[in-house]
Amino acid sequence: MRLGSKPPVLGAMTMIALGLLTLASASGQTAPAKPLLSEQAFQNVTVLKGIPVDEFMDTMGFIAASTNYNCTDCHVEPKVEGDWSVYALETPRKATARRMILMVESINRNNFGGARVVTCYTCHRNLQGAPKITPSLRDQYGTPPDPDPNEVEITRQAPGAPSADQIFDKYLQAVGGAEKAAALTSIVFQGTYQGYAEPQAPVEIYVKAPNQHTMIVHTDGGDRTTTYDGNHGWMAAPAADKPFPVIAYSNGDLDAARLDAVLSFPAGIRQALTKPLVGSSSIDEKDVVVVQGTANGGHSSIKLYFDKQSGLLVRQVRYADTMIGRVPIEVDYRDYRDVAPAGVKLPFHVVTTWTDGRSDVQLSSAQTNVAIDASKFNQPSPPAPPKQ
Ligand code: HEC
Ligand code: HEC
Repeated sequence: MRLGSKPPVLGAMTMIALGLLTLASASGQTAPAKPLLSEQAFQNVTVLKGIPVDEFMDTMGFIAASTNYNCTDCHVEPKVEGDWSVYALETPRKATARRMILMVESINRNNFGGARVVTCYTCHRNLQGAPKITPSLRDQYGTPPDPDPNEVEITRQAPGAPSADQIFDKYLQAVGGAEKAAALTSIVFQGTYQGYAEPQAPVEIYVKAPNQHTMIVHTDGGDRTTTYDGNHGWMAAPAADKPFPVIAYSNGDLDAARLDAVLSFPAGIRQALTKPLVGSSSIDEKDVVVVQGTANGGHSSIKLYFDKQSGLLVRQVRYADTMIGRVPIEVDYRDYRDVAPAGVKLPFHVVTTWTDGRSDVQLSSAQTNVAIDASKFNQPSPPAPPKQ
């Protein structure tokens, strides 16, 4: 769906698209609980069963992005903010969508050996209503749109292309050198967070090498906290944002949380992905080299884009796999600044775009190699209700 066309309700809804509830959330323990499955968590799920809640929400994002419908085009709009029960109600469009899920499953099973070759997007192409039937002469004879750099697929190493190691070396050099990058062990950032259709909020980010990361957004409705402790990831958010107070990440969303933690440190670049292949593309008419691989958890595919000239990491594109298709997430890194006394360049403007939202983080300060209390990376508690 197009960002500009979304009603504000979606801004709040997006938050649930990011994670999954664990049964452990109430006990306050960090041990990973069995993920809660969609049919256990929700009241009226008959097709998208047997998947963790975060993946279920990713499928909703996938459907919305493929059909250009908002959540409340298919679901009844909640009368009270935070009333999730209305999502269980039937609507005609929801019934059609469910029939479509079964249809797509059978197309793939009967024609493609069960491989996920056809998805909602294959026919719907992010256009509302019935897919087009007749070819357009405008499309055929008009100027084709520029290729989307996110869509490059590298199936083999381009001949003569540098190795992933060489690209990572150049990046480390560009940020101040491998030695200085390796000496960076913790960072505390402060800045502002701009979510889609919500007021700007102060944000704090705590990162500890090699792979711990906590971001706290102080929204008007209460704190929204995302944490990756090195093994597990969670999000705690105000009740209006999502159906469960604490949601734990699984599969693709867990890979993603880990990736963001690892990439907070330039030295983490070598831990970002496995099986790298190198190709090229361009972003905003600037040449980029692309390193494509598999996230370390193995659940998602990743592409890293480096500015060909400066060597800096400018974009990350990753995909969370769902039952019905891959959900893309793009992270853009801009505004690299020298951080003293570490002598390392870090991106101060980070924009994350996913199927149903966008977050824009503008950092203002970074303190490096400061002590961070280990408890900052514990499973976050449900936020206190907002003060009136
Ligand atoms: C094109 C229609 C469509 C759109 C758009 C859509 N959904 Fe759904 N939604 C469905 C269908 C169909 C089901 C039932 C799936 C099943 O039975 O397995 C469902 C089920 C749900 C449920 C489970 C409710 C319950 O208790 O049974 C939730 C929660 C939900 N959707 C949230 C969302 C959110 C949030 C969005 C926006 C990001 C969204 N949906 C967008 C079609 C849609
Ligand atoms: C093979 C092509 C094809 C695929 C794949 C496909 N659809 Fe459809 N879809 C159609 C056609 C054709 C219609 C119009 C006919 C109809 O409404 O029965 C339609 C209609 C719809 C509508 C009703 C639109 C409206 O407002 O009237 C929804 C919602 C929908 N599809 C959702 C989905 C979802 C969700 C998926 C993926 C799970 C999907 N479709 C996959 C062909 C497809």
